[in-house]
Amino acid sequence: MESAFWHEKWEKGEIGFHRPDVHPLLTQFWSRVVSQHDGRVFVPLCGKALDVGYLHSMGHTVVGVELDERAVKELFEEQKLEPEITEWRGGQCWQARGIRIYQGDFFQLQSADLGDVDAVYDRASLVALPPPMRALYATRMAALTGKASQLLITFEYDTSQMDGPPFSVNSEEVEQRYGERFHIEELSREDIIEKSERFQEQGLDSMMEVAWLLTPKG
Ligand SMILES: C[S@@+](CC[C@H](N)C(=O)[O-])C[C@H]1O[C@@H](n2cnc3c(N)ncnc32)[C@H](O)[C@@H]1O
Repeated sequence: MESAFWHEKWEKGEIGFHRPDVHPLLTQFWSRVVSQHDGRVFVPLCGKALDVGYLHSMGHTVVGVELDERAVKELFEEQKLEPEITEWRGGQCWQARGIRIYQGDFFQLQSADLGDVDAVYDRASLVALPPPMRALYATRMAALTGKASQLLITFEYDTSQMDGPPFSVNSEEVEQRYGERFHIEELSREDIIEKSERFQEQGLDSMMEVAWLLTPKG
């Protein structure tokens, strides 16, 4: 999607993807991703997810990237943190305590911006991107985060019933994007359509939410 698409969503408050809670799959499965909670976690396309604060409260240093400035501002407000704001090549870098969010385009990030990453939390990030961008995203993620383990949360649905975003990313595609570098384990698969009015309204009769654990090979 073009960046204008996302800025408009944030401006109009059409952010149905934002959860009022920490994602239950994060709290359930994070201990499968890391054995210690002192490392650096990268949260791509982080929106203003409360998950960032949760990971920080667990002891992690958290680095995120998010296109929209409003989202970043609200993220810090919700965490009750006063950020220091500096420039970076892609926009602004907001940081306070152990949270650093690059406001700007994921594709402009370089490894030096992130430093060594111990783990990645990808919820509604890969699935936010259309297919050609997903290929670039996975390649770029490999360059930025090396062999960091990942908790990846995807959606699967009948694509004749709805266009993304969120896009449907099936298990074959997860394998295609990550199988070369990672062992892939499906942690959970749940049809969330009954809980999701917005997807029912879009005409879906099933919406599978799938959690994947990616652990480095070799
Ligand atoms: C579906 S939302 C998910 C947000 C968050 N992960 C969550 O769970 O609430 C996708 C987010 O990615 C941001 N975004 C989209 N493309 C981006 C890009 N190229 N670089 C950085 N952020 C991007 C959008 O502004 C939006 O907030």
